[in-house]
Amino acid sequence: MCLNAVPSPPAHPHTSLPCYKVLTFLLFSFIFSFCLFASLRQFRTPKPEDYNSYPSTERSQAGSTRMLPKSERRLTILLWTWPFGHRFNFSNCSELFDTPNCHFTTNRSWSQKADAVIMHHRDVYWDTNSLAQLPRPPSQRWIWFNMESPSHSPNLGAMDHLFNLTMSYRRDSDIFAPYGELQLLSQPQPFSIPPKTKMVAWVVSNWRPSSHRVKYYEELKKHIPVDVYGRHHLPLSMDMLHQTVSQYNFYLAFENSQHKDYITEKLWRNALSSGTVPVVLGPPRENYEHFLPPDSFIHVDDFASAGELAQYLQELSRDTERYQRYFQWRRWLKPVLGIGWAMQVCRACHFLQRTEASYHVVPDLSKWFV
Ligand SMILES: *[C@@H]1O[C@H](CO)[C@@H](O)[C@H](O)[C@H]1NC(C)=O
Ligand SMILES: *[C@@H]1O[C@H](CO)[C@@H](O)[C@H](O)[C@H]1NC(C)=O
Ligand SMILES: *[C@@H]1O[C@H](CO)[C@@H](O)[C@H](O)[C@H]1NC(C)=O
Ligand SMILES: *[C@@H]1O[C@H](CO)[C@@H](O)[C@H](O)[C@H]1NC(C)=O
Repeated sequence: MCLNAVPSPPAHPHTSLPCYKVLTFLLFSFIFSFCLFASLRQFRTPKPEDYNSYPSTERSQAGSTRMLPKSERRLTILLWTWPFGHRFNFSNCSELFDTPNCHFTTNRSWSQKADAVIMHHRDVYWDTNSLAQLPRPPSQRWIWFNMESPSHSPNLGAMDHLFNLTMSYRRDSDIFAPYGELQLLSQPQPFSIPPKTKMVAWVVSNWRPSSHRVKYYEELKKHIPVDVYGRHHLPLSMDMLHQTVSQYNFYLAFENSQHKDYITEKLWRNALSSGTVPVVLGPPRENYEHFLPPDSFIHVDDFASAGELAQYLQELSRDTERYQRYFQWRRWLKPVLGIGWAMQVCRACHFLQRTEASYHVVPDLSKWFV
């Protein structure tokens, strides 16, 4: 009765008046109990495990996870293999994130003691039977780590029911590891567009003639000049990438396969960090717009054909004012690269430090990662 009367309009003053009194009484009782409780608590000696018994306001809820105090013991994370065999130096994660550092190791004699094990998909997919047999402590969490697209991730079915957490470029991963992101500037800043002398650039190493992107390029180049760099094409060293690409009006940020959220360094490093306008081929425009402002890129799907895209690019390159509009967002946003293995494993450290271990299994990884 009383609860029902609270949200009702003032057209029923008689029903809301007794309710008001009850509520006032409850409020004073509550404040009194709270003050009593707070004063009594001052006489208790705080213990380290106290955070377990704090009322729920102390627990910042993010789904089923809870923030841990910063004084937590240092977690050990076992990196099962160097990703693609590539050795790197671990970073001090507390310098990258606002959480304590982790102890990283690749020494498998830690496998029964580590708090978490990171397994890089492309280094373990062939060996899942023996992984499934490995004993593991009940509290240990296995993290499935993958930055490749499903098209380039073999044997995903064998990953079902094996891992506790996912870490990938997918936004809905437990640990989101993007290839790049736009950082908000604290105040707007002018951006100067690098001088443009050339039309369209593309850097490609994995050239498959039957792929969607190569077919699209073959069509596009009939209508507009495209300079292709990379293996079997114009030579380009990594040090020269930005300097070279920045001279072009447009950059073809064509992904090797089309999958949800699969937007790679082709966009972030090659195109955006070089100060050029990306022409993207990948997931649909709506998906890109989760990462980028709509007016920061050109999507091939915006055009009925490669010919029409070419015509648009030609027009745009002659219309300075319109071309400059593709850079307006840069006054308040800055592209930053999320890449680097040391950075990615620190994301796992950060996640584990912030969240309480709870039972969690990734049951249908192969149905999810498509
Ligand atoms: C790791 O750090 C050491 C010492 O600073 C340095 O000599 C080495 O080149 C680094 N290794 C890599 C792969 O960056
Ligand atoms: C990591 O960085 C933090 C903060 O700068 C520092 O206190 C700590 O000693 C560093 N740890 C290592 C192992 O370098
Ligand atoms: C791995 O750790 C074990 C136990 O701490 C140690 O005996 C061994 O030498 C380590 N192996 C390497 C390659 O560092
Ligand atoms: C992690 O996943 C494995 C395999 O599904 C499961 O047996 C284990 O209990 C899980 N551990 C945690 C801490 O969730």
